[in-house]
Amino acid sequence: MTIITDPLTLPCGQVIKNRICKAAMTERIASGDNFTNEKHIELYKMWGAGDIGILLTGNVQVHKENLEGPANVAIEEGTYKEQLPMLKKWAEAATSGGSKLWMQISHAGRQTPGEINMSPMSPSDIQLKIPGRKYGKPIPMTEEDIQDVIKRFVFTAKIARETGFDGIQLHSAHGYLLSQFLSPDINQRTDAWGGSIENRARMHLEIINKCREEVGHDFAISIKMNSADFQKGGFSSQESIQVAKLFSDSGIDNIEISGGTYEQPRLLGLDNVSINPERSENRKESTIAREAYFLSYAEEISKVVKIPLMVTGGFRTKAGIQAALDDGACEIVGIGRPLCANPYAVKELLAGKISELPKYEKTLSIGPWLLSPSSPFRIIQAINAFSAQAWFYQQIKKMGTGLMPDLDLKPWKAFREDTKEDQKATEKYKNFNLN
Ligand SMILES: Cc1cc2nc3c(=O)[nH]c(=O)nc-3n(C[C@H](O)[C@H](O)[C@H](O)COP(=O)(O)O)c2cc1C
Repeated sequence: MTIITDPLTLPCGQVIKNRICKAAMTERIASGDNFTNEKHIELYKMWGAGDIGILLTGNVQVHKENLEGPANVAIEEGTYKEQLPMLKKWAEAATSGGSKLWMQISHAGRQTPGEINMSPMSPSDIQLKIPGRKYGKPIPMTEEDIQDVIKRFVFTAKIARETGFDGIQLHSAHGYLLSQFLSPDINQRTDAWGGSIENRARMHLEIINKCREEVGHDFAISIKMNSADFQKGGFSSQESIQVAKLFSDSGIDNIEISGGTYEQPRLLGLDNVSINPERSENRKESTIAREAYFLSYAEEISKVVKIPLMVTGGFRTKAGIQAALDDGACEIVGIGRPLCANPYAVKELLAGKISELPKYEKTLSIGPWLLSPSSPFRIIQAINAFSAQAWFYQQIKKMGTGLMPDLDLKPWKAFREDTKEDQKATEKYKNFNLN
């Protein structure tokens, strides 16, 4: 029987000290230059002291014009040399307590905010439409664009290795570029990069093979993928099993299972919030009954893959984590939001000081019932979801200044602050890049 504190040896030989991973959470604390700075160091000093097996960074971008947010870290060939010392400090701070540090690498594709770029890249020109948010009509990528993006992923992986990170994770979940390629409703290409599942996964496999050549066999390569998009005509759970097998056979070390997109935010357990209801699929009852949302998918995937699986989304109790390990559905459990409320929550859980991780997402509300997440009005549900997300962003930013999270922060205030800060960050990004 595996217990939470048992170490795990990955196919690359890397030993993880326990079965918990801090899930990737975008930090959005870089400046207009999109470089790592002291705030990343402060933040990861905290998480690095939290007795967590693996720390995954928030999404680090490979292309400055296709960011997930204006204050993302981005690594590009033209400017990377200036970033090296801070990247090394980031790795030192995060790993000083024995955690492994993996850099999550991403390209936002059509989910690039319109304030940054109204002509983002995507496999096809299917535009993202979300009320209250602006996204441009994407430009379908040329063969040259695809080869360039593959090169950028590999380059960033190489820099991660050179600066002391222990691994990388390709972000192919939640509707970002790599997951856009997998989704048949978004990837409508008729060339070698679209159509069959092998074609839709071709870019991933090229990146994995080239990364392996570049980083060697003793460096962890992981991929985060959706169990499904939960959208009609989108990436289905049957396809995700096929793709997981392709990834497992390609010689990576780990697959992380998540699910959903901006239009269908199941990754956060938001089942009543469907930004695009007519495209939404119903949720399985068996999934609702369990603590973590993607476990039943992971069980299916675990039957066809040979590498350790990680499942992320909804784990809040030691018993729930242990049950997932016992069922054999996964070897590692990812924890996200609880670590924004208490960076040491995992340490306290493992030491028996607490029996449950913080669950602020269950209590955050902008007002009484009619204004709460259970409001019958879709718009109110959505504002609550954005406000709760802003609450977590604000706590990350707070920890970036070396302070503990502010648990009394009101979600509506968090939303207003975060929106203002995002606007300022966009200005800084534009000033830096236009000058
Ligand atoms: C503030 C915040 C930022 C996030 N940023 C990322 C990200 O950069 N990359 C990613 O793969 N997932 C991201 N996620 C999703 C988490 O990795 C995780 O899948 C999700 O929070 C569900 O896990 P939890 O229930 O333990 O929070 C983010 C989630 C939150 C709350």
